[in-house]
Amino acid sequence: MVNFEELEIAIQQITTNEELTVSERLENICVLLQSSVAHYDWVGFYFHHEQKPELHLKAFAGEPTDHTVIPFGKGICGQVAESNNNFIVPDVQAQDNYIACSINVKSEIVVPLFVEGKNIGQIDIDSNTIDAFDKKDEQFLELVNRMVASILA
Ligand code: SME
Repeated sequence: MVNFEELEIAIQQITTNEELTVSERLENICVLLQSSVAHYDWVGFYFHHEQKPELHLKAFAGEPTDHTVIPFGKGICGQVAESNNNFIVPDVQAQDNYIACSINVKSEIVVPLFVEGKNIGQIDIDSNTIDAFDKKDEQFLELVNRMVASILA
């Protein structure tokens, strides 16, 4: 069982740690989530480019990915950049518009990150377990993104 309350406190401590840069705080959040939650095998934050319709990977934990830049509309991440909605994929193999980062990945969740109502990025989590994500992950990751948004505003 994941203790989301404990993780929330730990993330709050990271986000408010002014001794760290924002990038370091994002990296620490990725490492914490990837190492604490068994079904989170890869955790990353992508942010919208300021001029181009592209997502750029800013922090991650897990295997390095080739997909550090993703055009809007492409893959699960690119679709969320345009839809502004959470996207849970129980089985990545059943998706046509999907960008594979690793052959081990079975399911994925992407939750957009809003600052002052604007979708500016997202948290992306891959799992090597099929159908790994549910409403609890979704609500928790929305909360994580709100905490992160408070240091980006
Ligand atoms: N699978 C994502 C690409 C990013 S990787 O998961 C790190 C997608 O389809 O957008």
